[in-house]
Amino acid sequence: MATVALGATTYVSFAADELAFANQIEARQSFMHVYRFNLGLLGAMAKGDAPYSAEQASAAANNLLAASKMSNGAMWPAGSDMGAEGYAGVTWAKPEIWSTYPKIGEKGAALTEALEAMAAGAGNGLDALRSNMGGVADGCKGCHEPFRAEND
Ligand code: HEC
Repeated sequence: MATVALGATTYVSFAADELAFANQIEARQSFMHVYRFNLGLLGAMAKGDAPYSAEQASAAANNLLAASKMSNGAMWPAGSDMGAEGYAGVTWAKPEIWSTYPKIGEKGAALTEALEAMAAGAGNGLDALRSNMGGVADGCKGCHEPFRAEND
């Protein structure tokens, strides 16, 4: 009993005192959830799981494009990678983000380019939406493969 209580206390004080980048990590993961949510709407239409709506497809595509142009460098402070002490299981950001910087910027730019095409086409019918899905998915994957560890 005493050991369990000590363990829990240690964990709580560790989390409060030493996880210095909690806000930044939470913000960038939430930012990624905005991507996932909007891409999920497009994916559901592309697969026929949701009825196609030009207006909704256009809105989701434009949200993705706007998000990809957001300046979010402040969410990625050096030292907040998964290899830093105490960060395993909190962030899946690989140290290569910083050690190969600014390479990650090229990946972001590639996604923006794919999203320009998606935003231009998503409102023009299901075929146009579908034809741009692969490019956008590759844009996400193209950055996750080098810079994000598996988290599932
Ligand atoms: C320029 C690089 C880059 C691009 C482009 C990118 N991601 Fe990510 N993504 C990351 C990194 C790095 C992480 C890990 C962040 C962390 O754990 O701190 C991540 C994490 C995530 C997560 C998990 C968040 C969590 O709570 O752990 C989701 C979901 C996600 N991305 C979705 C997407 C989708 C969808 C796209 C494309 C529309 C995308 N990402 C494009 C780099 C990128």
